[in-house]
Amino acid sequence: MRVSVIYWSGTGNTETMAQLIKEGAESTGAEVFLKPVSEASEEDITGVDVSFLGCPSMGDEALEDSEFEPYIAKVESLVGGKRLGLFGSYGWGSGLWMENWSERMRGAGAKLVGDSLIVNEAPSGEDIEKCKNFGKLLS
Ligand SMILES: Cc1cc2nc3c(=O)[nH]c(=O)nc-3n(C[C@H](O)[C@H](O)[C@H](O)COP(=O)(O)O)c2cc1C
Repeated sequence: MRVSVIYWSGTGNTETMAQLIKEGAESTGAEVFLKPVSEASEEDITGVDVSFLGCPSMGDEALEDSEFEPYIAKVESLVGGKRLGLFGSYGWGSGLWMENWSERMRGAGAKLVGDSLIVNEAPSGEDIEKCKNFGKLLS
């Protein structure tokens, strides 16, 4: 099983989630490629079995707009039938950015693995296990 974990993170919280998700996926024997979105290509979606995509809530309940949103706009037409796991950290909101993003990816035909995973600020306590378990959801 080939898995990519692609993320944007300003202060490291979503990056920590990405590393924990990678750990979880690797514990199943999967081959995992972890990279910031600035280094990601279309093949990181099309050439793997499952892609985990991570972005915190930015702007006003939106995806980060300089790197992450352009990447999602670019791959949106490629995700039909693909398995995607969406994750990210948030601050003071209700998680609306993730609801909207999940709906958008479903609308593009993606099959979302599990429930999209959101964590308040830095992962701590039971968040750690939740992130690792999310990485095991490969089907
Ligand atoms: C410019 C900016 C906009 C933000 N907008 C929101 C928001 O609309 N809703 C929310 O819940 N958190 C918001 N946050 C808080 C971040 O989502 C939160 O701090 C998150 O943990 C950052 O993740 P990161 O460390 O991966 O960058 C915002 C933070 C910044 C810097």
